[in-house]
Amino acid sequence: MKRDPEPGVRLTRRSFLQGAAAASWSAVRLAAAAADPQPALDGPTDTEEDAAVADLLSRMSLEEKLGQLNQALGRVSDTDASLPKGSEELIRAGRVGSFLSLHGAEETRRLQRIAVEESRLGVPLLFASDVIHGFRTIFPVPLAEAASFDVAAVETSARIAATEAAAHGLHWTFAPMVDIARDPRWGRIVEGSGEDPCLGAALAAARVRGFQGQDLRADDTVLATAKHFVAYGAAEGGRDYNTADLSLRTLHEIYLPPFRAAVEAGVQSIMASFNEIGGVPMHANRDLIRGLLREQWAFNGIVVSDYTGIRELMVHGVAANPEAAGIRALEAGVDVDMVSGIYAADLPAAVLGKRLAEAEVDQAVRRVLRSKFRLGLLQDPYRYCDPTRERTRSLTPQHRAAAREVARKSLVLLKNEGRLLPLSPQLRRIAVIGPMADDHQAMLGSWAAAGRPEDVITPLEGLRAAAPAGMQVLYAKGASAEGMDTTGFAEAEHVARRADAVLIFVGEPPTMTGEARSRSSLDLPGVQEALVRRLQPHAKRMVVVLFGGRPLSIKWIAETVPSILLAWFPGVEAGPAVADVLFGAHNPAGRLPVTFPRSVGQIPIYYNHKNTGRPAKPDVDNTSKYLDSPSTPLFAFGHGLSYTTFSYQNLQLGTSRIGPHDALDVSFEVMNTGGRAGDEVVQLYLRDAVASITRPVKQLRRFERIHLKPGESRQMQFKLGPDDLAFPGSELRPVVEPGTFTVMVGGNSTDLLEERFEVEER
Ligand code: NOJ
Repeated sequence: MKRDPEPGVRLTRRSFLQGAAAASWSAVRLAAAAADPQPALDGPTDTEEDAAVADLLSRMSLEEKLGQLNQALGRVSDTDASLPKGSEELIRAGRVGSFLSLHGAEETRRLQRIAVEESRLGVPLLFASDVIHGFRTIFPVPLAEAASFDVAAVETSARIAATEAAAHGLHWTFAPMVDIARDPRWGRIVEGSGEDPCLGAALAAARVRGFQGQDLRADDTVLATAKHFVAYGAAEGGRDYNTADLSLRTLHEIYLPPFRAAVEAGVQSIMASFNEIGGVPMHANRDLIRGLLREQWAFNGIVVSDYTGIRELMVHGVAANPEAAGIRALEAGVDVDMVSGIYAADLPAAVLGKRLAEAEVDQAVRRVLRSKFRLGLLQDPYRYCDPTRERTRSLTPQHRAAAREVARKSLVLLKNEGRLLPLSPQLRRIAVIGPMADDHQAMLGSWAAAGRPEDVITPLEGLRAAAPAGMQVLYAKGASAEGMDTTGFAEAEHVARRADAVLIFVGEPPTMTGEARSRSSLDLPGVQEALVRRLQPHAKRMVVVLFGGRPLSIKWIAETVPSILLAWFPGVEAGPAVADVLFGAHNPAGRLPVTFPRSVGQIPIYYNHKNTGRPAKPDVDNTSKYLDSPSTPLFAFGHGLSYTTFSYQNLQLGTSRIGPHDALDVSFEVMNTGGRAGDEVVQLYLRDAVASITRPVKQLRRFERIHLKPGESRQMQFKLGPDDLAFPGSELRPVVEPGTFTVMVGGNSTDLLEERFEVEER
C-alpha cells in the first residue's frame, strides 16, 4: 500500500488503487445485485473496495476527512449558475467532497481536474443534482408517471434521465422521492408516487433500477437517492416542513415500504427529511437511521442531509449550537452535510476536544469513498464529463419518443359521458381555450433540471399538428392561470361559439406545486373556473383538460362537463401525448395514484382507510360522515376510464383455506368488451376482515398494466404469500393472523369482484 506522498508530490489518479484493484471490472456488485438477485461474478470484491477505501482514509487529515462529508453549493442561486466564490480554494484544500446543483461536462471536468491534480490527495469530487423527472428530456412529473401504473415505463424514464444527467457530468441524483402523500395540500405530492405504499414501493424500486442501471461504473448511470427519510409527506396540515406525528404502525405500514423497496433494489443513498417525528427531527433520529436503516435493513450507502437540515436542528430546538447539531446528526448516521457547512467548520474542534469520536467521522467518510469507488471515479475521475456525450445523448429522438410514450400512458380520463372523446375526425372546427393550452414552461412541471421551454411541444401545437385535414383549430387563451383579469373571456366565448367541440385547458401552474408550495385551497387558481362557467352554454360539447401536480377541487366541473382528461404536467412531449389521446391515436389507461377529494375539507382522504366503528352510511345518523358533503371521494384511487370497456369474470382462488405460511393462487379473466384495443390497469386488493388490530378496508397488493385487443381476454394469475397477508403485529414484526380475508379484483378501487378465503391456524 502506498503511503502519503512526499509534500509537494502530486498523486495521479492511479495512485488510489493498487494492483488488481486498478483493473477494469465490468460490474459493481451492489448495483448489479439491485437489478438482479444474482450478484455479478466479475465485479470488484468487497475486499478490494475496502482496501482502496482504507488506504485512502489512512492518508487523510481530519480536515480532509470532514471535507469528504461536506457538500457545497455549486451555484450562487437559482438564477445565478456561477460557482460561489472560494469554491476552487475549497477543492484545492480538500475541504469539499461533493457539489450540489452543478452540471456541465466542461465545468465538472475543470473542477474535477483541480480536485485530482491540485489537492493533496487528489480525491475526485461527486457532482450531485435534483434530476427528478428527466434531465434535458423532461418526462411527466413523478405523480403523473405513477398514474401510468407502468413499472417498466417508469424505469425507462429514470434510465433516460440518468443517461442524460451522467453525460452532463453528474454522478448523483436526489431522486427518487418516495414519500407517501395522503394530503394534496402538500405541494410535494407532485414529486412522489401518491398515496399507496404498494404502488410507491414498486415505483421506488423501478426508479432506483433506472437511475443506477446494471453497472454503477458505466458512464450512463448515477447514484440514486431515496428521499426524504421519513414521513415527510405526513406534515400536519399539508404544510411543508411541518411536524409529523404518527403511530409507529402507520410509519411501518404506510411510509416505510417504499424506502425498504429502494434499499432492496440497491439504492446507494438516502436523504434525511426536514420533519420531526414524535419530537425527534429526522436529522437527529438515531433510532430510524442507525437502528432501522443501517442495522435492520443493512443499508450501507450514504445518508445525506437535506439542504441545511443539520443546521436546522438548532431551529427545531434540539441543538444549542452548530457543533452540537453536527454531532447529533453525525451520530444519528447522517454522513454528508448538504450546504450547512457545519461538519467542515465545527466538527474538527469537536473531535479534537473528544466530544465526537473520530471513528464516527471515519465511518461516514468510508461510505462517501465507497461511492466514489463504486462509480469508478477512483480509477477514472473524468469518466462522466465528456462534452461529446453531453451533445449526443441529450434530447435525442429516442428520448423524445420515450417521453411521449410515458406521457400518454400517464394521462387519466376522469370522465367521458356521451363519448365526446375521442374527438370525431368529422368535426370541422375545434376551439382550444385556456391558459394551459399553449404554455411551454408549464408543461415542464415543477422540477425540470435542464429542461427548456423551447423544447416543449404544447397541447395547442400538438393538436394543430395532429388535426385531420379539413379540421380547423381555433385558439383563445381566455385568461391567465393565476391573474384575475377576465377581459379575455369574450374572445374565448366567441371562439367557442364557432366550434363544434370546445377544449378547455385549465389547471394549477407549476409554480404552485413542489417544495414550499403548500396550499390551503385546491381550487383552480385565478379566474379559470369562472372561464369554464362562462362557457357553460357549450357544456354539451365541452372537454376540460386539467393540468396540475396534485388533486384539485373540480367538483363543479366534474358535475357539469361531460369529458375530463387529467394531463398533470406531461413534459416536453405534452402536445403530441395530449393530441394522441384526444384524437384517439392512443387509448387512455392512466389511473389515479391518489384520491381526488370533493373539497379540501375532506382531507386526509385515502382509499386504504380504516373502517371505524361507525362507517359512513349516507342515510344513517351518527355515522362517520360530513353534514355538508358526501364522505366519498370525487374520484377514487385507481380510477381512470378508457375508450373501450373491460369485464372481470371468474375470480377463483386456488383453495378456500390456507395456513399462515402458505401461498394462495388467485386467477380471473379480464376481457376487452368494447370496440377498441386498449390497456387496462388490473388491480388486486386484499382485506383482512378480523384481526387483533384494525386493518384497512382494502389494500392494493398487485397491479399490472395489460394490453387487450377488442374481444380479447387474458387469464390473470397472481400468487399471494404471507407477506401480502401480514401486518405489523407486536413489536412491529409481520404477523399473519387466522381469519377471513377478502380478495378483490377490478379496474379501480371501487368496482371490484370479490372472493373470500380463510387463513387457519396450522
Ligand atoms: C431541498 C429538498 O427538500 C430536497 O428534496 C432537495 O434534494 C434539496 N433541496 C437539494 O436541492
